[in-house]
Amino acid sequence: MTKKRIFVTGRLMPTARDRLEQSYDVTIRNERKPPARDEIITAARRMDGILTHVNVAMGAGVINNLPDSLRIIACHAVGVDNVDLEAAKARGITVTNTPDVLCAATAEIAILLMLGAARRASEGERLIRTGGWKSWGVDFMVGTEITGQRLGIIGMGNIGQLVAKRARAFDMEIHYHNRRQLPLAKEAGAIFHDTVESLLEVSDVLSLNCPLTPDTRHLLNRDRIALLPRGAIVINTARGGVVQDTALIEALKSGHVAAAGLDVFDGEPILNPAYVGLENTFLLPHIGSATVRTRTAMGMRAIDNLDAFFNGSEPPDRVV
Ligand code: DGY
Repeated sequence: MTKKRIFVTGRLMPTARDRLEQSYDVTIRNERKPPARDEIITAARRMDGILTHVNVAMGAGVINNLPDSLRIIACHAVGVDNVDLEAAKARGITVTNTPDVLCAATAEIAILLMLGAARRASEGERLIRTGGWKSWGVDFMVGTEITGQRLGIIGMGNIGQLVAKRARAFDMEIHYHNRRQLPLAKEAGAIFHDTVESLLEVSDVLSLNCPLTPDTRHLLNRDRIALLPRGAIVINTARGGVVQDTALIEALKSGHVAAAGLDVFDGEPILNPAYVGLENTFLLPHIGSATVRTRTAMGMRAIDNLDAFFNGSEPPDRVV
C-alpha cells in the first residue's frame, strides 16, 4: 500500500520524526522560521495531510488553496487559534490538536512566571549580570510573596486545573472563571465566579489559561484591568491576543499591576517593545511546553491522530 504523504511545517523531536517517517511519506521543513502562505500551498500539493506548528498561520487563504487530496491538519499544539477552523470545516478538512500532554510543562512555566514576576527575578538577574549590585539592603529588591495570595484563573481546563494544584503548594486561595462550573471533585475547593469581572476583583495573582477565540481576544482590556486589586500580578501562558497590550503596559507603568509574567505575546516573536523596557516584567519566549518529554509527547499525539484518521477511525483529538 502506498504511504500517505504528510507535509510537516517545521522540526519534530527525533523520536516523533522517526515514528512519522516509518509510517508515512514525509516532507519536513527543517527550519524554525514558519513557512509563508505560498510556501505552504506549494508544499501541500499532492499531500494527504499537514502536521503543523503553533507559529504557522493556517488562515482561509491557505486552507482554500489546499489540494482536494489534503484531508487532515494535525496541529502540534493544544491551541488551534492559528488555524481558520471555519474554513477547514467548510472544506471538510479534519483538524486535530494535542491536549493533556503539555499540562505539566505549561503549569510549571505558569508557576515560574508567578515567582519570577512577584520576586523581581529578571531585575535581580539583570543587576548581577550588569555589575549593578552594589550592596544588600532591607528595602532592596523587595517584592511580593505569592504564598497565601488569592489566585484567579481564567480558563479552568486541564492546564488551569494543574496550575491550581501546583499553586496550592503555596497556600494560594484558588478562584476561577470558566465557561462551565467544574464538578466539585475537580474544583478541589476552588471558588467559581460566573463572570470575569467578579473573578478579577479578588485576583491578587491572575493566571490566563483560556484558549484564544474571537470571544477571548483582548479579554484583559483596560476596563477589566482596573478591576484587579492594586498591586496585582498578571501571568499569561495562554495566548498573547488574550491581553490588550497597551492597557497592561499602562497598568504596569502606573503600578496598578505590580508585575507581569508573560510567556506569550500578540504578534510573537515580535512583541510590544514597552514590555522589554519595563523592570516589572518577567518575559519568556513561548516555552510553556518546551521540555524534551512534552514536545516528544506532543509529536506522538499528533501522529496518533494522523494514524487514527488514515486507519478510518475517529481521531482522538478532533477539533473540527
Ligand atoms: C500549545 O500547544 O498551544 C502551546 O502554546 C505550544 O507550545
